[in-house]
Amino acid sequence: MAGSGGLEEVVAAETAISDIDGKLGKLWYVGYSIDDLADHATFEEVVYLLHNLRLPTQNELDDLTELMIADRESHDFVGGIMPTLAKQTSPMSMLRTSVSAASAYDPDGWDQSPEANYRKAIRLVSVIPTFIAAYDRTRQGQPIVDPNAKLPHAANFLYMLSGQEPEQRAAEIFDTLFILYADHTMNASTFTARVVASTLADMHSAITAAIAALKGPLHGGANELSMRMLQEIGSADRVEPYLSDLFGRKEKVMGFGHRVYRHVDDPRATILRGMAKELAEASDEPQWFDIAQEVEQVVFEQKGLRPNVDFYAGSVLYYLGLPIDLFTPMFAAARAAGWTAHVREQYADNRLIRPESEYIGPRDQVYVPIDERDEESAAS
Ligand code: ACO
Repeated sequence: MAGSGGLEEVVAAETAISDIDGKLGKLWYVGYSIDDLADHATFEEVVYLLHNLRLPTQNELDDLTELMIADRESHDFVGGIMPTLAKQTSPMSMLRTSVSAASAYDPDGWDQSPEANYRKAIRLVSVIPTFIAAYDRTRQGQPIVDPNAKLPHAANFLYMLSGQEPEQRAAEIFDTLFILYADHTMNASTFTARVVASTLADMHSAITAAIAALKGPLHGGANELSMRMLQEIGSADRVEPYLSDLFGRKEKVMGFGHRVYRHVDDPRATILRGMAKELAEASDEPQWFDIAQEVEQVVFEQKGLRPNVDFYAGSVLYYLGLPIDLFTPMFAAARAAGWTAHVREQYADNRLIRPESEYIGPRDQVYVPIDERDEESAAS
């Protein structure tokens, strides 16, 4: 086959936003290692970094934070559309629809200037948690909780879901998870966003498409499925038979394997394992972490595969109290920072992304009128 299956190792864009070394197991945002950022930065700083390719000064961070707080406010259409979405769609379908609908309410309308696109980007990053929380509250028959302007972005998301301010450590861990999920080079959803942007379609279209790409179980959907797998297993002594059955059926174990980190740990998984352990120790359900560790060991022994970001993210989100079907929307909320930065980078130096295909069908066929086609000639 010409080219590479799944575009493996194909360089599809130049970017100054993030970088991976799949052999060393390293990830950087604008040259800062993910470990450094996870330890020291806030999500708001990372949003600034991804969009401006440098860390902010205090004044710049204050300005961005103010903008993000203002942009958290719900859109007018939410009250109208959310009861139907909450009743009839999955959380990711709701998010895809809401982000698409938000374009009709964006104050910058169809303005495609770089300034308008920056504002649209920050608006989307800011408002996505509001959509998710409104959906969750509505489906439970509870009143929507307005955003709390005193809380940082991640903590406010937890607040809008539960109506209660999160404890400080939970808010810190959630903020770190936002940082870890914020960008990851040319993954399937970011590539999708850049393809759409390369046609010069608008920001909302690109992010709507990215959400659609993230939804699948081979990409963002894996964090939810990995937690459901732990629940299905139920106890550490059932891990081995469960995985033997799964491998016997030639099925994949969710949250394992990665296109880029083939022989080393995903650096995000290493950080998340530590956070899951900490939360498990403070929880009255420590068994999920024990089962997860056992799964990690057996999958490595039997398949040589390592956990990716989604495996321990599932446990972390569970311990933080998120409903399992909101795990992938949470991933989207964080990744919106990277998607929007990539879309702006694409616009800034654009060329239509249009790869080729290799034709493998029949050639030199001759058209036969429909009344002359018999079963045999139609099948040949
Ligand atoms: N479980 C079992 N076997 C696996 C897994 C897995 N999770 N991942 C890879 N393999 C196997 C493949 O079947 C293949 O075996 P083979 O050579 O016998 O055919 C071999 O390992 C190599 O894998 P590829 O298919 O080449 O991996 P690819 O790079 O195409 O896919 C992917 C990467 C999609 C992440 C894959 O590992 C997978 O499906 N994982 C489970 C889903 C998942 O966790 N997705 C989240 C990824 S991270 C993210 O998107 C944020």
